[in-house]
Amino acid sequence: MVQRYFQFLGLEQTKQLLIANEKPLKPYIRVNTLKIEPNILKSRLENKGFKLKANKWLSYAFEILKSPYSLGATHEFLLGYYYVQNLASMLPVSILNPQKGDLVIDMCAAPGSKATQLAQIMEDQGNLILIEKNPKRIPALIMNIRRLGITNSIVLNFDAIKLNQYNIKADKILLDAPCTGEGLIREDPTRRKSRSINDLKKLSIIQKQLLKSGLLSLKPSGQLLYSTCSIAPEENELVVNEVLNELKDFSIAKISKGYGANGLNKVFGLKLRDDLRFSQRFYPHLQDTIGFYLCVIQKLD
Ligand SMILES: C[S@@+](CC[C@H](N)C(=O)[O-])C[C@H]1O[C@@H](n2cnc3c(N)ncnc32)[C@H](O)[C@@H]1O
Repeated sequence: MVQRYFQFLGLEQTKQLLIANEKPLKPYIRVNTLKIEPNILKSRLENKGFKLKANKWLSYAFEILKSPYSLGATHEFLLGYYYVQNLASMLPVSILNPQKGDLVIDMCAAPGSKATQLAQIMEDQGNLILIEKNPKRIPALIMNIRRLGITNSIVLNFDAIKLNQYNIKADKILLDAPCTGEGLIREDPTRRKSRSINDLKKLSIIQKQLLKSGLLSLKPSGQLLYSTCSIAPEENELVVNEVLNELKDFSIAKISKGYGANGLNKVFGLKLRDDLRFSQRFYPHLQDTIGFYLCVIQKLD
């Protein structure tokens, strides 16, 4: 697996990535602005001995510098005032930026980190359809929706590969695809050895099917954000490249803020679509996050 990194990161950066993967991840919370103002929550938690630091990317995200006890054991957590979520995972929804009246679909929603953030940005208005294939993951999704006080959503248990058969057309779609989780080694060290090239191959087939179905479910000018917690080109740029070469009416949108590194438009000896450089990659050694990828795809009028 690591040999593949040399081909797009080079030797020195691969070393830095492996070192950064050994460092613990900084904990973050996302304030649920449907229920509380960020500064009021900050004071309440600091009165209990927590220490919070504002984040330069998102006004409703705080890094937790000190926790006298678990972040899941406060009254404020139980009241749904915040969600414990890593920073890179907050960016897709902030970039997709759904509006209050939109019809929005989250194709792979459980356990609901990004689904509940979508509802938050929509100010709990419009319509939010949350799809999840695995029935065992639905209770956690529903619990999070309830805890955060969200009412604009419905949860559907089906295979999102079939989404386009229902002829629903959305303004915005989030596809946070099932992936190897290659980027999550800082959170879960067992992933260092638990994923193989075969997993990459199998998952990339599902990712392409999901992406195609999602793109065919967009309104004209609608946008789909594709994300994975993986830095593997096989699950990211190569997936987007293949699907967009097949479906013609789409382009990759430029993200106004450069949070991460540019996406790859050539890798493993292959020349890919040039606009893939508008997608963004996040690396433990460069952005100090989990490994993450995101790409905004726009349907043309
Ligand atoms: C990366 S996780 C999503 C995490 C979620 N977006 C969040 O932020 O909390 C991928 C999810 O997709 C679900 N899934 C996998 N294949 C699916 C499919 N074909 N249709 C719908 N959901 C699927 C998995 O069960 C898993 O819950």
